[in-house]
Parts: sequence; structure tokens; C-alpha cells
Amino acid sequence: MLLTLVYRSHVSEHVQSASLAGLVTQASFKNELSGITGILLFDGTHFFQLLEGPEDAVDALYYTISQDRRHHNVVELMRDYAHSRRFGNVGMELFDLRSHHEDVVLQAVLDKGTSKYQLTYDDRALQFLCTFVQAREKENYLEILPAGTWSFLPEEQPEAEVEFIFPEMQDYSFAFQPIIDPLSREIISYEATLRGPDGGSPMGYFSKLSRMTIYEADLKSKKLAFALANQMGLNSKTLTVKLLPMTLVMVPGAVEFLIQEITANGLVPEQIVVAITENGVITREDKFNAAMKQLKASGMRLAIDDFGAGSAGLLLLTQCQPDSIMIDRNIICDVHTSGPKQAVVQAIIRFCSSLEISVIATGVEKPEEWMWLDAAGICNFQGELFTTPRVNALPLVAWPEILQEDQLLNQNF
Ligand SMILES: Cc1cc2nc3c(=O)[nH]c(=O)nc-3n(C[C@H](O)[C@H](O)[C@H](O)COP(=O)(O)O)c2cc1C
Repeated sequence: MLLTLVYRSHVSEHVQSASLAGLVTQASFKNELSGITGILLFDGTHFFQLLEGPEDAVDALYYTISQDRRHHNVVELMRDYAHSRRFGNVGMELFDLRSHHEDVVLQAVLDKGTSKYQLTYDDRALQFLCTFVQAREKENYLEILPAGTWSFLPEEQPEAEVEFIFPEMQDYSFAFQPIIDPLSREIISYEATLRGPDGGSPMGYFSKLSRMTIYEADLKSKKLAFALANQMGLNSKTLTVKLLPMTLVMVPGAVEFLIQEITANGLVPEQIVVAITENGVITREDKFNAAMKQLKASGMRLAIDDFGAGSAGLLLLTQCQPDSIMIDRNIICDVHTSGPKQAVVQAIIRFCSSLEISVIATGVEKPEEWMWLDAAGICNFQGELFTTPRVNALPLVAWPEILQEDQLLNQNF
């Protein structure tokens, strides 16, 4: 199958423009051997490359190219399948955008196009190419430092585990993981997630329940979350608890129960963020909306969890106007290398900013993911880069610390 792959990257400081001719001659020779054709654009700072050829060969070459130290911040913009080649005549050709006016370069590039793709502007790959030549979208080229520029230092003293509280609640426990603002070194909230009794998945517990009792169990479990949070000393922090959206519909008096348990444990409703998962199917919309009103009127705040993973996301957002959304980990994973994910995250940031909804990135595991999201404008994060969840205890936070030049030098040896 013929794969078309388009990426952009940032040239490394040590690379001389004069050396690019040699790179392209070699690349062209090698590409022809493996049936790859394409085009390379350079504007003095960024590369833009279109590669087309057999899927396995393009994937293998892209992997090699993305590891090449002559450039960094490599972002895949497009991966698509085609039935014919756009630039089928040559293994690789270089166009330096600094040498000529953009229209001249664009025409020269398009003249190299093969068959019917010549001058076809509605082709996505060619649209990307035009955008690059015309230097549009440059504000979205977020540059990040190498991963090793930061170290992540845990706080010194772990908090002790708290005592188990309710004998009737031995089937499950709660893991706590903070949501943090890493650069302000501030814990925004602690999220309590239901786990099995030994800290594993709670599926064993839930699989024993019928459809109806799942909602009741979901609600009742929050009693333990509030009690544990109280024992741990939540102080003025907020506590985020996940709730299936249908729990609010199916269990009569669900909001009253939450309020009663919050106050019984010395907390106040304003301290509680109820995070509903967007992929929980919502039926009985009228009842759901009534429960939402009641929840908000009580002072509790609302978040949409796993945002972007389900099907109801945007509609649910317009319906219940949450205080915050938690972007799903699958969108966050490798966001620094994926153009489509970057476009989605930037759109989420934009509409949340218009609606004054705060955005939390969850499942952050790599320094580069955090750096890119921070550069895009997100301040609140959750993930194993900073903390590992702890059962019945508050975990330590590994705050980012920028390394000094001498520390960076030591790291390279
Ligand atoms: C911007 C850029 C584009 C590149 N394009 C190609 C290419 O199209 N084909 C290729 O074989 N190598 C290309 N390279 C070089 C590869 O990263 C790598 O150095 C080369 O394939 C290694 O060849 P070798 O394994 O024979 O040493 C490119 C490098 C850069 C920085």
C-alpha cells in the first residue's frame, strides 16, 4: 500500500545549510532503492518533508529520520494512503524557500508533481505544502527543549498511609493522585480513583454487581473517598471524585447523599469536584439535567473526565458547562510528535478559554508531552511524570527542576 507521510521539524543549531545538498543526494539515492519518492522544503529554520512509498519502507525511514540529530521537534502532520504518487520522478528533491519568492517556489514545487496531482489544490498533502511555503500556521510551531533539560525531584517525606475506616467497605479502596500546576509548584486538587482492595483494578468488584446496583455502589463508594480525604488532611485543597453520569439519574437522592457524606466528613461541597466520564451513556436527559442543576446549586464543581475519548464530548460540554475538563490520556500520549493531536488540543484550549473552563491534561508520562502542553497554554497536569498514585495515602510529587549548564554537561558524559 502506498503511504504518504508529511512531517515538519526544526533544524539543529550545528547544521550548515551548505551540508543539506549532500544529505539530499544521499537521501535520493537511498530512497530510490526502497521505492520512496518525495520532496524536502527548508525555510532556514524548519524542514517540511513529504515521503511516499510502500508503507513499511516509509515507516522505517521516518523512524530513522526522526532520530536524526540534525533536526528536532519532529511533528508528523499527515499519514494517509494514496493510489498514485505526487512526486514520483525523484527519490528526494530539496527546495530552499529562502532563495526565491514563495509563488515561484510553489510553482516550481508543483511543476515537479506527477500526473493528475499537478496543481491540484484540494489534495491534503499539497494543502500542507502550500501552508508551509506561504508560512501560515507558524504560530502553532511550538518549540520545546530536549527532555533531559529537566529533572523531576520528589518531595522528601512521603505521607503515611491512613487507617482503613469502614469494615463494610472491604471490597475496594481509593488511589489518590494530585492534579498539579508544576511551574507554580502547586497542588490544585487530589483525585480519588476507585481501586480493588489491594490497589488493583476494581473490575472484580464491579463485575459481581447487577446493572442497577453498579450505580448504587458507585455512589456509596464516595463515602470512603470523603472519609479517607478527611483523615489525610485535605486542608483547603479540592477533592476530585469520578462518578458515572447515570448514577445521578438512576439513584434517587444521589446529590443529597453526596452532600450528607461531604459534611459528615468535615468537608464542604465547594471543595468537591465531581468528574463525570463523558463516555458513560446518558439517557433520560431531563433527569440528568435536573441532577446537574442540583449538584451545581449545592456548591460542588463539575468536571468532564476522559474528554475526547468518548462520543458525547462536545454535546455534553454545551449541555452541562463544566468548571474543568480533563483531556483523555490517549490524546495526550506523544502529543509533541503528532500534528493531529496538537490540532485537537489547541482547539480544546481555544474553546475552553472562550467558555472560561479550565483544562487539565491527564496521563502525562514524558517531559516532552508536558513541555509541549505547557507551551500550548495548559497549566494543570496529572500523570506519572509527576506522581504515582498511592492507595489510601497522598503521593509525593516530583516537581520539575531545570538543570543548570554544568549539570547538563555531566549528563552528556
Ligand atoms: C530533514 C532530513 C531529511 C532526511 N531525509 C532523508 C530521506 O528522505 N532519505 C534518507 O535515506 N535519509 C534521509 N535523511 C537522513 C536520515 O536521517 C539518515 O541519516 C540516513 O538515512 C542514514 O543513512 P545510513 O543508515 O545509510 O547512514 C534525512 C535527514 C534529515 C535531517
